[in-house]
Amino acid sequence: MSEKDTSIGVRISSHSTIAELRDAAEQCTACDLYRNATQTVFGEGPEAARVMFVGEQPGDAEDLAGHPFVGPAGKLLDRCLVEAGIDRKQTYVTNVVKHFKWVPRGPRRIHSKPGSVEIEACFPWLEAEISVVKPRIIVALGATAAQALFGKSFRVTRDRGRPVPFALAPCALATVHPSALLRAPDEETRRTEIERFIADLRQVAEILR
Ligand code: URA
Repeated sequence: MSEKDTSIGVRISSHSTIAELRDAAEQCTACDLYRNATQTVFGEGPEAARVMFVGEQPGDAEDLAGHPFVGPAGKLLDRCLVEAGIDRKQTYVTNVVKHFKWVPRGPRRIHSKPGSVEIEACFPWLEAEISVVKPRIIVALGATAAQALFGKSFRVTRDRGRPVPFALAPCALATVHPSALLRAPDEETRRTEIERFIADLRQVAEILR
């Protein structure tokens, strides 16, 4: 790979490492989210990971811990990965946006969906992660990640679990975000939706075999 300058002022080459990118991303001011976030939450996992999971943005727990998918949605993701026969330690897990966007409600920080300005500002980090890890398969978790990666017309409800042509990896697909499962209106729906999510992850496991 030839050297490439990115719009976030980072030079990516075939020798770049995730550790270098993570260090550089700590100083990122490409959009305003750094002002109210505790820290940048960069992706994590082995550089040789064959699968990359991409979520929307860190939540409250991730913002405080500095690690992706460690809060309630992350714990559910972990459980479902086990069910699908995927070892999280062998995966690379990241987000489209790397700072927590929130609004205050009393003493609480409430998740606020990132907009196109933040998604575009942050996208070079994700591209850089992809070019270092070179995963065999990229899995978008939820609509924000899926549309950032596969285009605005992508619909998770319609296109989940299907291979998507994608220039940056040999295989790609999208499924729901685990936080959507936590918001299911009743126990029965939650159980059914978790089973569908695990079925999508089993397809990923199949591709990795
Ligand atoms: N939701 C996400 O999209 N990413 C995280 O890291 C946590 C929750």
